[in-house]
Amino acid sequence: MTEPARLRDTVTARALSERLDMAAVLGRGGPMYAGLARDLQRLVEDGAVAADARMPSERVLARVLGVSRVTVASAYRSLREQGVLTSVHGAGTFVVPRSDARPWGRLNAGEGPDVLEFVNAAPPPSAFLGAAYEAAARRLASTAAHSGYVPGGVEHLREAIARRYTMRGLPTTADQILVTAGATDAIHAVVEALVGPGNRVLVEHPTYPGALETMRAVGATCVPVPLDPGDPGAFVDTADRAARQHDPVLAYLMPDHANPSGSVLPTDTRRRLAATLHRHGVVTLVDEVAVDLDLDGAGALEPFGAPVPDRAVVTVGSLSKSVWGGLRLGWVRADAAHLARIATGYSHRQLSVSLIDQYAALELLADYEDVVAHRCAQLRAGRDALTAALARSVPSWRFRSPAGGLSVWCTLPSGQRSTDLVDRARERGLALAPGTRFGTGYAFDDCQRIPFTRTPEEIEDAVAVLAELMGGASAGPRERVPSRAVPDAVV
Ligand SMILES: Cc1ncc(COP(=O)(O)O)c(C=O)c1O
Repeated sequence: MTEPARLRDTVTARALSERLDMAAVLGRGGPMYAGLARDLQRLVEDGAVAADARMPSERVLARVLGVSRVTVASAYRSLREQGVLTSVHGAGTFVVPRSDARPWGRLNAGEGPDVLEFVNAAPPPSAFLGAAYEAAARRLASTAAHSGYVPGGVEHLREAIARRYTMRGLPTTADQILVTAGATDAIHAVVEALVGPGNRVLVEHPTYPGALETMRAVGATCVPVPLDPGDPGAFVDTADRAARQHDPVLAYLMPDHANPSGSVLPTDTRRRLAATLHRHGVVTLVDEVAVDLDLDGAGALEPFGAPVPDRAVVTVGSLSKSVWGGLRLGWVRADAAHLARIATGYSHRQLSVSLIDQYAALELLADYEDVVAHRCAQLRAGRDALTAALARSVPSWRFRSPAGGLSVWCTLPSGQRSTDLVDRARERGLALAPGTRFGTGYAFDDCQRIPFTRTPEEIEDAVAVLAELMGGASAGPRERVPSRAVPDAVV
C-alpha cells in the first residue's frame, strides 16, 4: 500500500450493486453479512473489483444495497479478517493486492503435485505435435533470409485454413483469414474492433467464461440468453426477444459442442438463428474451437452463417483443442470489411504470430483428419469413462452425454451448490471450476462442469472424490496422482 489513496480507483456503491444479487444473497440462508462478504470476495477474485481499489463507505453501500449498515460493516470486517480488505485510517477501505496474485490467471488450476486438475478443459499435446515442429524447424532453416514478421499470417497457412471452411460449405479465400495466437486472441481482436463500452452483447447461457471476461474488459454488458441443450430450437425465439429488447451489437455463440453444455445447434436452428440475428443487425461471433470434436461421428453440420451474407458472421477457431493449447495458434474468419477493421486493430498490438508455430500448424493441417481422429478417440474414452462413473457413483446428478466437446455439464441435486462442492473438493485434492464461472450474475451454482480431457483413470479418481463428497460410496484414501502442469484460466 505505497500509493497515495487518492490515486487509487474507487469502486462505487452503484457499480457494486449492479454486480451483486441481493435477492440471491438473501435466498441462500445463513447470516446476510456472510453472504455479502462471500459475494464481494468473488468480485475481487474475478477481477471485477481491482486489487488496490477503494471500496465505498459502509454507509453509502448499505443505503444503495438496501441493507443495514451493520450488515455491510460485518461483511467488511469479515473480509478484513480474511485479508481481502484493509482499512487505512482516514483514507477508507481498500482491496488488498495479493502478493501471490498471478495477473494472467484468475482461475488457479492448482498445480501442486497432489492436485487432480479438473478446472480446465485442456487436452494433452497431440501425438502429432513433435513431428510437426521438427518439420517446421526444417522449413525455418530454409527460410533464412526472411524477416520473420508475417502480418496477418503465413499465406500458405491462411490458404489451408480457408480451404477447410470451403470444404465445410463456407466458401472462403485466404484474405478472409487473420492468424492469431489462439482463439482467445482472436475473440479479443474481434471484440475490440466491433464492441465499445456500454454496448450490449448477447451470450448463450451457460457460456465460455473467457468470452465473458473479454466483453467485460472492453466495458460491454453481457445479456445472457438461456440455452437448453435438450431443446436448442427454443433458443431462436429467446434470442429474437433478447435482440429486440436489448439492441445488442454482437452475439457470441458456440453452435458446435458448446463449452460447457456440449450443445449442438441443429441445422434448421442455426439457419433460423443466423437469419434472425442478421435481421436485427447483430453480428454473430461464432466460436468454433470445438467444431472438430465430433466424438460419435455424427458428421459436421453446415457452418453457422452459411446462408446469410458473409458480413453477418465472424468466426474464430484454433488448434488448441484438436492439437494443444500450448501451440497458441488460432484465427479469425470474416468478410473483407470486417477483417480489415479487425486486422488493423490487431496489428497495433501484435506484429506477427510466431513463425515456427505457424509452420507447425501448416504441417498439422496437412494431416488434419488423422490429428482429429486421434484426439476424438482420446476424448471419447474420457467421455465414456466420465459418464459411466457419474451414473454409477453420483446417481443424483443429472447430465446429458454430449456428442462432442470436452466436458459434461451436470445439474446438482436440489439444495447442493457448486461453489460449496468446489471448496470441499479442493480440500480433497480435486480442483474444479464452479458452475457460476459459466454464467453471469449468480446463475449455475446448481451446475457443475466436469472436463473429460484427462485419462480414464484420473477421471475415475475425480468421480470417486465427488461420490465421497456427495455422501455416497466412500472413495477411501485416494492415491494421489501427480497433476500435469496445465496453464491457468483456460476453462
Ligand atoms: C469455447 C472456447 N473458446 C476459446 C477458448 C480458448 O482457446 P485458445 O486456447 O485457442 O485461446 C476455449 C478454451 O477453453 C474455449 O473453451
